[in-house]
Amino acid sequence: MTSPFPSSPFPSFRFGGDYNPEQWDPSVWDDDVRLMTAAGVTTATVGVFSWAKLEPEPGRFEFGWLDTVIEKLHAAGIRVLLATATASPPAWMAARHPETLPVDERGVRLGFGSRQQYSPHSRVYREFAERLVRELAGRYGRHPAVEAWHANNEYGCHVSESFDEESVSAFRAWLEAKYGTIEALNRAWGTYFWSQAYASFDEVDAPRAAPTFRNPTQQLDWKRFNSDGILELFLMEKAVLAELSPGVPVTTNFMGFFGELDYWKWAERLDFVSDDEYPDPADPRAHVHLAATRDLMRSLGGGKPWLLMEQSPSAVNWRPRNLPKPPGANRLHGLQAVARGADGVLHFQWRQAEAGAEKFHAAMVPHAGPDSRVHREVQALGAELAELSQGPVLGASVDAQAAILWDWDTLWALRQDANPARIDYLATVMHWYGALLRRGVVVDFARPGARLDGYGAVFVPALHVAAPDELDALAAYAEAGGQLVVGYQTGILDRDLHAYLGGYLGGAGSALQRTLGLRVEEFAPLPASALAGDEGPGSEASVVGELAGTATEWQEFTVVDDAEVLARFDDGAAAGEAAITRRPAGGRGAAWYVATQPGAELFDALADRVLTDAEIETPFAAPVVGVETVVRGGVRFVLNHTPKPAEVEVLGRTVTVPAYGVITL
Ligand code: GAL
Repeated sequence: MTSPFPSSPFPSFRFGGDYNPEQWDPSVWDDDVRLMTAAGVTTATVGVFSWAKLEPEPGRFEFGWLDTVIEKLHAAGIRVLLATATASPPAWMAARHPETLPVDERGVRLGFGSRQQYSPHSRVYREFAERLVRELAGRYGRHPAVEAWHANNEYGCHVSESFDEESVSAFRAWLEAKYGTIEALNRAWGTYFWSQAYASFDEVDAPRAAPTFRNPTQQLDWKRFNSDGILELFLMEKAVLAELSPGVPVTTNFMGFFGELDYWKWAERLDFVSDDEYPDPADPRAHVHLAATRDLMRSLGGGKPWLLMEQSPSAVNWRPRNLPKPPGANRLHGLQAVARGADGVLHFQWRQAEAGAEKFHAAMVPHAGPDSRVHREVQALGAELAELSQGPVLGASVDAQAAILWDWDTLWALRQDANPARIDYLATVMHWYGALLRRGVVVDFARPGARLDGYGAVFVPALHVAAPDELDALAAYAEAGGQLVVGYQTGILDRDLHAYLGGYLGGAGSALQRTLGLRVEEFAPLPASALAGDEGPGSEASVVGELAGTATEWQEFTVVDDAEVLARFDDGAAAGEAAITRRPAGGRGAAWYVATQPGAELFDALADRVLTDAEIETPFAAPVVGVETVVRGGVRFVLNHTPKPAEVEVLGRTVTVPAYGVITL
């Protein structure tokens, strides 16, 4: 990622939110600006859904209202994150160019009347979008109020694929560019199975609704193609902005571990990373996932500061039951982002909508008005961030001593059907992440193949899909002295989704098999998975040995040639087989294999041993649930995500953190 600024992209912590003045009578705008100023708002994200207002008829642009809004904000010293407004095309596009509307896998064309109703590969959409961006950039590209560009909005959120003819021909072209010959595609897709062989690219289709299991590699390529195609939309906008608004950074808002776009490929094209997160107040474990998304955003940007583009000041409107954020929780979530590398906390949205599908979504100025709990908390957070801007945190990096591998091909492959079991990759990764969070260990997420040498320990849960050289790199990391901890379902398939033969973890004689001292012969999933959402608590087995406790999700038949068996399954289909192994590698390095999903206590015991061997400092001497700690810019944040005050020992010092509170040391 290229950052336009050496440390922070911003002069102070950004604070504010989406501002949709076009939904209101202009008589409200002065009040907005007055309240924003009082609340310490530095930044308003303007125009995200205003295409219909900006271009009421094709080619007729109306910028007067936006001129006024930008001038008012500018006069008050509020910077503008200007949206390119391409996220929701106007009614005229659907009416005059129905071919721009997306088509689902059953061939149903989606209608107008919500948002994001465009096929990502529609040439007509692309032409209109590019023209709109050109008009906006030409008009505001050098305006002093414009701090950055917000391209589109949450690319792929509702529509990440379309099965229209234009998209399918683009898919064929993408495949032809990738494979060169139809024979190469046939080999990669394994099409001699079920008589699927193609004679030419013209015969290839998108993976539409089909009688039964669709070709796995076709499905994976379709995901990759759509991620790349939507990235083209971003790059098209970015090119126009670079031309007409030079030097102004361009971002777009990610959605954490979003399942449709390969953000590793995307992030390198953004000037800074930004993210939207909506933790569920009803979920007591939401903070684990939330902390992980913060770490992912920092990692996507190569460690550089990122921006929390959206969070809700309180309830959302899109879950079956929308609980409010408890008092303090919005500050807690904002400061969690800051502690984990964000240089700004923005919200959806500034003023709560009066009408439309989001009228019950909380906002910085709620229906109740500024004299309200939510708005008072907003004001306090604005003041706190302004004060924090004076200290060493802004622009500072966050040190992570461990890494977890994360891979979108694996996510896509494990979401397909016809797998050894339903394996929820994200939940699996979160389970591992949680064990490190409980000890206060900060992790980066790393892309397979990335450099790992700076980390004391590297964790690899369920890296189902990996190229041989990516698996070799893991072995090399352990041989170079790192603690490598590999979980079940790693190294099963190559990037064409062909099984590794001669034992999993990369196939017969692979470097990873040698470094681990074992190969996996057969899977034995436990009957029910809690992680993949089966009914009930999920099955359990016991493991016994030097490490003993409960095993969940998985067992395996493993051939251990040359590793110490630290735990064996005591019951279940694979009773007697190795559950956790360790083999010394180069220097002080070791390669650990975990053939199951350890229960929390067993995980904690395992993590303890690995972290000790890696000489990674654990701020919490014993595992702590619901409280996290992280250092940024020399400031240690301790954050309590529970409804009760928490007394915790951090590096030998006992501190009390209020319910949903944050303290800094
Ligand atoms: C986001 C979106 C916003 C708003 C918000 C509501 O996904 O970017 O425009 O809809 O959700 O939670």
